Amino acid sequence: MAHTITLIPGDGIGPEVSAAVVRILAAARAPIEWEEHIAGMQALNRYGDPLPFAVLESIERNRVALKGPLTTPVGEGFASVNVRLRKELDLYANLRPVRSLPGILTRFGPVDLVVVRENTEDLYSGLEHIVVPGVVESLKIITERASTRIARFAFEYARRENRRKVTAVHKANIMKLSDGLFLDCFRRVARDYPEIEIEEKIVDNACLQLVMNPQQFDVLLLENLYGDIISDLAAGLVGGLGVVGGANLGDTIAVFEAVHGSAPDIAGKNLANPTAMLLSALMMLRHIGEADAADRISAALCRVLAERQIRTRDVGGTATTTEFTEAILAELEA
Ligand code: NAI
Repeated sequence: MAHTITLIPGDGIGPEVSAAVVRILAAARAPIEWEEHIAGMQALNRYGDPLPFAVLESIERNRVALKGPLTTPVGEGFASVNVRLRKELDLYANLRPVRSLPGILTRFGPVDLVVVRENTEDLYSGLEHIVVPGVVESLKIITERASTRIARFAFEYARRENRRKVTAVHKANIMKLSDGLFLDCFRRVARDYPEIEIEEKIVDNACLQLVMNPQQFDVLLLENLYGDIISDLAAGLVGGLGVVGGANLGDTIAVFEAVHGSAPDIAGKNLANPTAMLLSALMMLRHIGEADAADRISAALCRVLAERQIRTRDVGGTATTTEFTEAILAELEA
């Protein structure tokens, strides 16, 4: 039976990478029926709302979505649709496996780590106001409830995926109460997982260590802001935003999305790397129990990158989005 999945192609390069992924999943005969919706700038222009109710309703009904990047205006305009989606659907965990791919040269050697980021609070609560002209207050909210459930998510993930260590990243030396609470929750949850090693690192040191010796890390657990920054740093270790997938997960709903933005500088030019969106789609296939299709696509992707040396420009190649996609299709059909 086919799985009905909400597809949001997204803004900028979103439609290009989404179209590539849809073709690849079809070639692998993944049994999926897409329910396509627009959000972001396109929806704003057409319906006057960047997150129409029909999008939320579709995701809530299907419980699984694949989403392209959505543009957020900087410093003005509507609030981030990504943040709204995470809040409305209570997608409290952002999961980003960061793994080196064959054939993609980087400065950092083989990397295999997973970033788990709390998705619903911290400085992203959107609570900021002007106290008096020239003074702005922005509130960092950390709760026991959210910190405990994201810690539990990280340890459950580590247990399920046979990971050996969870590192909590914090700045509790300065933010003693807020980051202190996050750490307390981490330590308390850790007691239920005695087989998993635990570690704590201050965020600035964690950044240094990530570029000096990324191999020491396994699962990283972070609040929202640190997680946002470190997860892009981690993507840079393995070749950039074009080659890392991710997911936003709640207890019942899962939205899989590439980690990159809408890349306006290359949108519409057939230059985008669809690998990030494809890796997110592979996570999605495994989530819905279609691991066979995921394994076949993953093997085809690795052959294209490593053996056939076909790569897009962002990772040192010359292939267009279409050429790269067609190389994967050819491998799948070989
Ligand atoms: P970006 O990720 O769109 O682009 C950063 C750089 O990476 C650009 O040089 C771009 O060309 C390159 N790049 C990104 N993805 C690529 C791919 N698949 N293949 C090849 N090159 C790629 O980040 P930026 O410029 O900061 O943000 C642009 C817009 O995207 C903003 O409106 C931002 O709010 C939005 N955004 C949306 C996200 C989401 O929907 N989850 C995440 C990050 C940003």
